[in-house]
Amino acid sequence: MAKKFVDKVVCRDTLKTLKQLPDNFIDIGVTSPPYNKKENNKGWLVNKVMYSGATDNLPERVYQNIQVKVLNELYRVIKEGGSFFYNHKIRWERGKLFHPMDWLRKTKWTIKQEIIWDRKIAANIRGWRFWQVEERIYWLYKPKGNNLIGKELKSKHALLSSIWRFSPENNNPHPAPFPLTLPLRVIYSVLDDKKNGIVIDPYCGNGTTLVAAKILGQHYIGIDISKDYVKYARERIKNYKQEISKANEEMSKHIVRKTFKERKKNGEFVGRHRRGTDYQGVNQPSLF
Ligand SMILES: C[S@@+](CC[C@H](N)C(=O)[O-])C[C@H]1O[C@@H](n2cnc3c(N)ncnc32)[C@H](O)[C@@H]1O
Repeated sequence: MAKKFVDKVVCRDTLKTLKQLPDNFIDIGVTSPPYNKKENNKGWLVNKVMYSGATDNLPERVYQNIQVKVLNELYRVIKEGGSFFYNHKIRWERGKLFHPMDWLRKTKWTIKQEIIWDRKIAANIRGWRFWQVEERIYWLYKPKGNNLIGKELKSKHALLSSIWRFSPENNNPHPAPFPLTLPLRVIYSVLDDKKNGIVIDPYCGNGTTLVAAKILGQHYIGIDISKDYVKYARERIKNYKQEISKANEEMSKHIVRKTFKERKKNGEFVGRHRRGTDYQGVNQPSLF
C-alpha cells in the first residue's frame, strides 16, 4: 500500500499525505517549508516569493503548530537512526524575532546540528538590521534505542564543516527553490553507504531533492500542493541526467586531500580554524 507513494510526486496537502504513510518507512528527508512570509504585509518579506498553489500568510502561532505536526508525522514515518534536514531562517514580524528553534524544540526530534547556510547574498533591501545573508539547516535525528548520537560521518563529508557557502538557485521558475547542492550534500553524506533508500521531501516544490535522490541511486517521495510545481518536478525527474554534472561538482568537494596523520608528519595545518582556508588548509575564495 505504501509502495504506491514511492518514486511519485503527490499533489496534495503534506500533513494529510504524511498521515497515510506507515511508521519507520523512510531513510532520510530534506525540505524547505513555506516560511510564512506574510505576502502582502509590510515587513521583512520579499514580495516576489509567492507560491502558485498556496498562500503563505498564517497567524504565526497557527503556522508553528502546523510545522510541529508535520515534523512529528515525519518523525513517525522516518526509520529509527534516520535523519531529516529542515531548511529555515530567522524571521521578524513588527520587531519580534521568530527563531526555528521556537518550534523545533516542541517536536519529538533530537536536534543534532544547526548548520549555517551562507547564501552570500541578502534578501533585505533596507538596513533595519545588518543584512541577513544566512539561512539555517537543522539536522534532526530519530534515535535508535537510547543512542542519541547515531553513526559517524565519513571524514570526507564531515570536513565540509558546519558553515555551507553556496549561492541560492537562480535558474529555476519556482519562486524559492534551493540549489541542487543542498539536498545532494545531505543525502550523499548521510546515506553514503546505501543505495535504494527512500528520500522524502514533504514540500518538494520543483523537485530539487527528488532529482538529487535520483542521481544518487535512491528512491524518492515528493509532496507539494501546487499543480504547477508538481508538473515541473515530474518533468525534471525524467530529465535528471541533465543535472548530473552539477551533482558531480558537489561530490568532488567531498574528499580528504591528506589525512590528519600525513599533515601532522609534514608539519602542515592540522585542522584548527585558520582565516581564508578551509579545514584542509586550502585557500577559499573571499566572500566580498
Ligand atoms: C520553499 S518551497 C520549496 C521549494 C523546493 N525546495 C524547491 O527546490 O523547489 C515550499 C513549497 O511548499 C509548498 N506548500 C505550501 N503549503 C503546502 C502544503 N500545505 N502542503 C504541501 N505543499 C505545500 C509550496 O507550493 C512550495 O512549493
